[in-house]
Amino acid sequence: MSRAIRIHSTGGPDALTLDRVDAERPGAGQALVQNRAAGVNFIDLHQRAGRYPLPALPATLGMEGAGVVEAVGPGVTAVRPGDRVAYVMGGHGATPGAYADFALVPADALILLPAEIDDVTAAGMTLKGLTAHYLVKSAFPVRPGQTILVHAAAGGVGLLLTQMAKLIGARVIGTVGSDAKGRLAAEHGCDHVIDYSHEDVARRVRALTGGEGVPVVYDAVGRDTFAASLDSLAVRGTLVSFGTASGPTPPFNIFELNPRGSLYVTSAGLAWYTRSRHELMERASDLIGWVATGQVKVPVLQQWPLEQAREAHMALEARQTSGMSALTL
Ligand SMILES: NC(=O)c1ccc[n+]([C@@H]2O[C@H](COP(=O)([O-])OP(=O)(O)OC[C@H]3O[C@@H](n4cnc5c(N)ncnc54)[C@H](OP(=O)(O)O)[C@@H]3O)[C@@H](O)[C@H]2O)c1
Repeated sequence: MSRAIRIHSTGGPDALTLDRVDAERPGAGQALVQNRAAGVNFIDLHQRAGRYPLPALPATLGMEGAGVVEAVGPGVTAVRPGDRVAYVMGGHGATPGAYADFALVPADALILLPAEIDDVTAAGMTLKGLTAHYLVKSAFPVRPGQTILVHAAAGGVGLLLTQMAKLIGARVIGTVGSDAKGRLAAEHGCDHVIDYSHEDVARRVRALTGGEGVPVVYDAVGRDTFAASLDSLAVRGTLVSFGTASGPTPPFNIFELNPRGSLYVTSAGLAWYTRSRHELMERASDLIGWVATGQVKVPVLQQWPLEQAREAHMALEARQTSGMSALTL
């Protein structure tokens, strides 16, 4: 029997239970991974609470993990037992499962890890790093010299997105909820920090851009930032909405995009930007290269043992975390 953090019904952090489960054997195209660390992501909170329904309950949570391949199923040639790997569940027909000693993972979702990247770093960077990569490279490809707005810039995705945008040569305006988070964002390259708990975001953005606004806003805060995001955009700018940490975005009339300057809005998801093994590996290769060479830092500032998954969820939900969070096994 091995350990798994599961939900039997949706709810608050108390819905997470530490269960003993039977070891599974990998089927065709699968690998069994012995996890050493699991990333804690905002999507885990949505799944636990029932906002993103899971196919069946009880379910083991956790969309992101890192560890060692224990066994492979028929037809798997890309990895062998003993290989160190990281993975993101979900985009390849899998359900979550990383908050556990062992996870069955589709082999085509596995990313081989170099020695320079430890397990906790890998569990902190994979889902969030692939997300930041598709956001700045594909959802709205940032160009050198552009000024961009990133909400929750001191969060997991926010810090990685900021660093990647700086690598491209952009100027980054980031929003944060406290002075300490502002300092952290600045340490990771954020050029201008706005504390959206008391500052007028759109007004500051206009002031910082000579009245023009920004060509892109990356917004995963949702309800509380949606209006300011639209108000911060330049003519023909793009709002990339990719999350709802503060709640769902309000309904809005598409015609409103016209008088504001023919704006664009997209609602983006990682699974749509890692549709093939080839696309996943292209993004992963950039990410691993940047992290292994120190060009992108992965500050995993909160770690809990697996048993304390509830504490991890409470901290993330209460905005007490910054950077990345991981469970260790
Ligand atoms: N679509 C995709 O492909 C994709 C993939 C990964 C993540 N995401 C989304 O990206 C966002 C960031 O994910 P993450 O895991 O890196 O989390 P995170 O940014 O580390 O944590 C969320 C942050 O959002 C801010 N926030 C603002 N209002 C909040 C509220 N009412 N409740 C909680 N937090 C609030 C907080 O920062 P402040 O205190 O500074 O406000 C908080 O620290 C999430 O919305 C997540 O769902 C989307």
